[in-house]
Amino acid sequence: MANASPATGNADFSWDRFDSESYFQHYYGDPHPDDDNVIRLAVAALGAAAKEGPLDIVDVGTGPNFIPLFAALPVADRVTVWEYARSNCDWLAAELEKPEMRPQWKHFWRVAREAYMSTPTPIDPIPPLRAKTTITQGSIYDLPARRWTAATMFFCAESITGRMDEFEQGCAAYARCVKPGGILAAAFLVRSGGYIVGDRPFPVLSLTPEAIEDVFSRHARDVVLQRIGIVEREIRSGYSGFVFLTGRAI
Ligand SMILES: C[S@@+](CC[C@H](N)C(=O)[O-])C[C@H]1O[C@@H](n2cnc3c(N)ncnc32)[C@H](O)[C@@H]1O
Repeated sequence: MANASPATGNADFSWDRFDSESYFQHYYGDPHPDDDNVIRLAVAALGAAAKEGPLDIVDVGTGPNFIPLFAALPVADRVTVWEYARSNCDWLAAELEKPEMRPQWKHFWRVAREAYMSTPTPIDPIPPLRAKTTITQGSIYDLPARRWTAATMFFCAESITGRMDEFEQGCAAYARCVKPGGILAAAFLVRSGGYIVGDRPFPVLSLTPEAIEDVFSRHARDVVLQRIGIVEREIRSGYSGFVFLTGRAI
């Protein structure tokens, strides 16, 4: 576990030197049942929201991860990746151009398709994903207001800073980036102490589910939190379970 100072802010870390492939291999090289749960929870939230029509979805802090894109694809007419690290934007763009999916993507796409049940899904998600997705290099703190109809965010606002004020600022910007009533579906690490990518430490704010709920109660209605796989020991660097939050922006 890294020793990120609690007073350490987002700007104190070398995000452009984020080693995308190391992160992918460490966190998604060997899919964990909790990853499948993230997909199922996101599909449930987005699938329910899409009954009102196709969604214009942003994923904030996507990192080297197709999971949010797979959850979005069947119900989105547009998908925006909003990611700060140039390395991750380039990695995602290159990954979308590959002719063959990695075995891990095949696994996660199978989980997404099963979760969508009766909603039509393509056998190969990459060509439609390539057509629908825009990759934007940008900070959570600079998200435009009231732009999208749904926003996902997995392990970003609490995993980019050791400062509570920046976490609150990030969550406010995330909640405000969708139109009023827009769907929010987000996962947060709980009681983490930081993580290491390659040999570089990155920060995580150690939070309780109650603290996360308290912040979102100011920005959303119908907030529901589910506790997933929360254990005392780490499963991977900085990871010992998460909460999944859904709500509607106010
Ligand atoms: C712990 S990783 C999570 C990645 C991915 N969402 C996942 O679930 O595995 C945190 C991500 O937030 C990104 N990030 C760092 N600072 C950011 C900022 N100011 N705005 C948006 N994203 C940021 C990092 O580059 C990284 O991709």
